[in-house]
Amino acid sequence: MDHFLYRNGHLHAEGVALSDIAANVGTPFYCYSAATLTRHYQLFKEALAPMDNLVCFAIKSLSNVAVLKLLGDLGAGMDVVSMGEYLRAKAAGVPGERIVFSGVGKTREEMRVALEGGIRQFNVESEPEMRALSEVAVSLGVKAPIAVRVNPDVDAKTHEKIATGKSENKFGIPIARAREVYAEAARLPGLEVVGIDVHIGSQLVDLEPFEQAFQKVADLTLALRADGHTIRRLDLGGGLGIPYTRSNEAPPLPLDYGAMVKRTLGHLGCEIEIEPGRLISGNSGVLVSSVIYVKNGEGRDFLILDAAMNDLVRPSMYGAHHDIVAVAEPAPGAPTVPFDVVGPVCETGDTFAKARDLPLLAEGDLVAFRSAGAYGAVMANEYNTRPLVPEVLVKDDHFAVIRERPSYDEILKRDKLPEWL
Ligand code: LLP
Repeated sequence: MDHFLYRNGHLHAEGVALSDIAANVGTPFYCYSAATLTRHYQLFKEALAPMDNLVCFAIKSLSNVAVLKLLGDLGAGMDVVSMGEYLRAKAAGVPGERIVFSGVGKTREEMRVALEGGIRQFNVESEPEMRALSEVAVSLGVKAPIAVRVNPDVDAKTHEKIATGKSENKFGIPIARAREVYAEAARLPGLEVVGIDVHIGSQLVDLEPFEQAFQKVADLTLALRADGHTIRRLDLGGGLGIPYTRSNEAPPLPLDYGAMVKRTLGHLGCEIEIEPGRLISGNSGVLVSSVIYVKNGEGRDFLILDAAMNDLVRPSMYGAHHDIVAVAEPAPGAPTVPFDVVGPVCETGDTFAKARDLPLLAEGDLVAFRSAGAYGAVMANEYNTRPLVPEVLVKDDHFAVIRERPSYDEILKRDKLPEWL
């Protein structure tokens, strides 16, 4: 459930008409609903109770500091994968003991910054990384808390670019070698083993791959404990999918996910950590754009928008579907026509949808891409020197710009002319 609904003929984010924001901020822009973010976070808290747990929001899905502060103030932890994300979590006021550092290639510099600033745990993904972390920790006179990310060799049955739990993927260490890797970790002077980490992919619409992976983690927990390790925390990653279309998809709910976690891991007495991104942020955001032109092509009509693949890359990168709706509510029974919905970028790949049935839209009309809160703004770029799309946060009946659209001056100033040119 989200808080983007038609009221008095206009699509609103909570109590604010998106057309009012467009008049104020210009288009395109991302708009997030505080109530939806809050609700989705709480769904996970309810699903995991009464287990001891920490819900660490995967910042990579939506990293604006205002959103992180909103979630952090509710008690959320953060899952970060870079120094930049770590600094964002800190800037949002999240204490180090609620920040988990994931990622396959952490640098020594990143390790040092996190150890100095405070960190709950590093999820380490290889032996060389483990050794480097131990060295950095020793040089600072501390012990780095770690979980080893294991690769359970499970098919997540999701898009190949976002599946991470098969043995051919670059992530984690093969679960079959976990015992020897933990044995080395225990010998390294700068590390303190606290648990096990697993993450098998993103946009999973079935619980079964999770269950297979968690079962393997349960077995490994017992084996590692028998080897003498203290396994008190299990980090289960993120990955629970969301419905991108209103009609046919119904991925499992957090409550079902929570019940499965209890069933597979509840008996171990571990603290449970999860790292959801998309389920919290995805349906909490829309991308609002204006129609620049309607162009009649050969056997098709193009809806040319002022948003493009640089603002929302998911359709061109993953072939992802995003529902597109008119911001002015169509009259009941109003006719629809198929449009190819495209942006102005000079690539055929800059296509959001083909033959999408939409109301008769005209120049200047507003449309909203739904489910754009996750992996939307964070993956935006300035291709074709199009300014980074701004972000707006709505709470009840007020809104604030939480990232401004850069001016062309600011963009051009970043380029430097060498003296000799
Ligand atoms: N934890 C780790 C270690 C991850 O790699 C990810 C996502 C998450 C948590 C959060 O997964 P989520 O709950 O959001 O599914 N750009 C792609 C998605 C990439 C996901 C990368 N890792 C997209 O637009 O679909």
